[in-house]
Amino acid sequence: MTTKVLLELDGVHTHIGAYHILHGVDLQVPEGQLTMLLGRNGAGKTTTLRTIMGLWTASEGRILFDGVDVAQRRTPWLAQQGIAYVPENMGIFSDLTVAENMTLAARAARDTGALDRTRLEWIFGLFPALRKFWLYPAGLLSGGQKQMLAVARALIEPRRLILVDEPSKGLAPSIVANMIAAFRELKRSATTVLLVEQNVQFAREVGDRVAVMDDGRIVHQGAMDEFAADRGLQERLLGLSLDPKLERLS
Ligand SMILES: Nc1ncnc2c1ncn2[C@@H]1O[C@H](COP(=O)(O)OP(=O)(O)OP(=O)(O)O)[C@@H](O)[C@H]1O
Ligand SMILES: [Mg+2]
Repeated sequence: MTTKVLLELDGVHTHIGAYHILHGVDLQVPEGQLTMLLGRNGAGKTTTLRTIMGLWTASEGRILFDGVDVAQRRTPWLAQQGIAYVPENMGIFSDLTVAENMTLAARAARDTGALDRTRLEWIFGLFPALRKFWLYPAGLLSGGQKQMLAVARALIEPRRLILVDEPSKGLAPSIVANMIAAFRELKRSATTVLLVEQNVQFAREVGDRVAVMDDGRIVHQGAMDEFAADRGLQERLLGLSLDPKLERLS
């Protein structure tokens, strides 16, 4: 069976000022699947997501979204096409309530009352804390709750592609388990996700596909199952391995 590739990077180079950061990234993100982007610190993962989202502009190469080259498109246009981005720093508004943060993330809703209730209930099921703190300023949430709000903002409307940068960063293990459960549930809706992670268990639990970056290039792409079973490959590419004996979280 061949799956359609929704997003494809073809020889993408990115410069930030005088620095040459991405050196020809070739990446395929199949539709309806969750692709994990792994790699050591400084490998270029965040730069790749920012380049896809138009926050950096590729200096060379093509970024095909549903077959159309969007490499020179700007961020608002890309958001309008249904691409959502959850940045490493979460991008939430501390002075606004949880409800207002959610409303601002929805293209279709002018006020909180116009949010899709069914979808909101689904999100509250994934992240119950958001219901509890719905009318609180987001700045009062804990780090983990802010992370949940950031992911929930991307989920408030159906998106064609969600880019997420390290949603488990700095979270306690039990909260990581919640986040994993949320992404598992999200996968049931066959949303296309490109997710950056350092947490190998997270990667193994939710990834369908894996791409590994090193020094501004993709050095491996394939099925997560095969990658998870090949400890030699993991050690070579990441300097560590996903322990196959780890209990599955659930
Ligand atoms: N604004 C910037 N100006 C200059 N160099 C930058 C900038 N942002 C990132 N870089 C450099 O680009 C390289 C890739 O950074 P990037 O943030 O994409 O890595 P990463 O894989 O996301 O790392 P991490 O796992 O630590 O988040 C690093 O060497 C970094 O120092
Ligand atoms: Mg990063």
